[in-house]
Amino acid sequence: ETTPDEAQFDDLIARDERIEPRDWMPDAYRRTLVRQISQHAHSEIIGMQPEANWITRAPSLKRKAILMAKVQDEAGHGLYLYSAAQTLGATRDDMTEALIAGRARYSSIFNYPTPTWADMGAIGWLVDGAAICNQVPLCRASYGPYARAMVRICKEESFHQRQGFEILLELMRGTPAQQRMAQDAVDRWYWPALQMFGPPDDESPNSAQSMAWNIKRFSNDELRQRFVGMLVPQAEALGVTLPDPELRYDEANGCYAMSPIDWTEFHEVLAGRGPMNAERLRRRREAHENGAWVREAATAYAAKQATATRE
Ligand code: ACO
Repeated sequence: ETTPDEAQFDDLIARDERIEPRDWMPDAYRRTLVRQISQHAHSEIIGMQPEANWITRAPSLKRKAILMAKVQDEAGHGLYLYSAAQTLGATRDDMTEALIAGRARYSSIFNYPTPTWADMGAIGWLVDGAAICNQVPLCRASYGPYARAMVRICKEESFHQRQGFEILLELMRGTPAQQRMAQDAVDRWYWPALQMFGPPDDESPNSAQSMAWNIKRFSNDELRQRFVGMLVPQAEALGVTLPDPELRYDEANGCYAMSPIDWTEFHEVLAGRGPMNAERLRRRREAHENGAWVREAATAYAAKQATATRE
């Protein structure tokens, strides 16, 4: 039998309205959101590392200023998202602890190295491009605080994507060595970027329920297709080749045919065995430990303020 609370929740979902923090919600809905939002927050925070790697070596003052702003944006995204997860009862301490203990997931994409400057271009173009494709529909997610955080995040991601495209464009207009560097970065980031959308639909355990709850609006494979459709004309404009000889538009069924994705690699990365997993976690743990004095100072300050107000 449906309780009045359940009926109200079902009705809000059926009318495609928003669920807010004080509304009743099924435990499984809450758990799914905490899972997805916290994983998303961790991705933003870990995602600062591959690019931070180039801040001191950016090729000009202008590039350095842009890159610093972008990496700071990622920190901001992580913070909005942790706050959204906190509205569901998750605590910041628990989420942080799960991340640094290696128990939490974050996007597979951030476990790859960034050996050249062109990687900054490829990350912006491909990784942030994939993030936009995946996140624009999340602006309509049924959970209000998540959807609203996504609106701001997507605006910033669009700028990130454009700056990446522009880095690659400049390299492609440069010397043959610069062109090769750009193509090499695209070759390395293309397949991991396609894996960002998650496993194929028939191997995605969470999709059906998340779609029924209006959290996800499109399936993993649908978004992957949409992303490839976006890349093809942009690759042409850049003059880079997407590293898939099988890639072609299939008129008959209206989608892109492509080579099989290496899901073994994806599962290896998820299991913690990607090229940079250990390094990413080590660095995050170190940053957390180095920040202990800030947390202690903030706590002491808050305690002092509380006493001052009482007096
Ligand atoms: N990297 C790491 N883990 C992944 C990835 C990936 N690219 N894709 C899927 N997974 C995990 C899922 O988290 C899930 O694990 P869990 O059940 O242990 O939590 C498992 O693989 C199975 O996948 P799905 O059933 O398809 O999971 P879900 O419905 O959550 O869909 C998706 C995965 C599409 C990533 C979804 O969670 C999502 O849209 N998240 C928000 C966006 C996001 O997190 N982006 C981060 C990268 S973008 C950026 O930060 C710039």
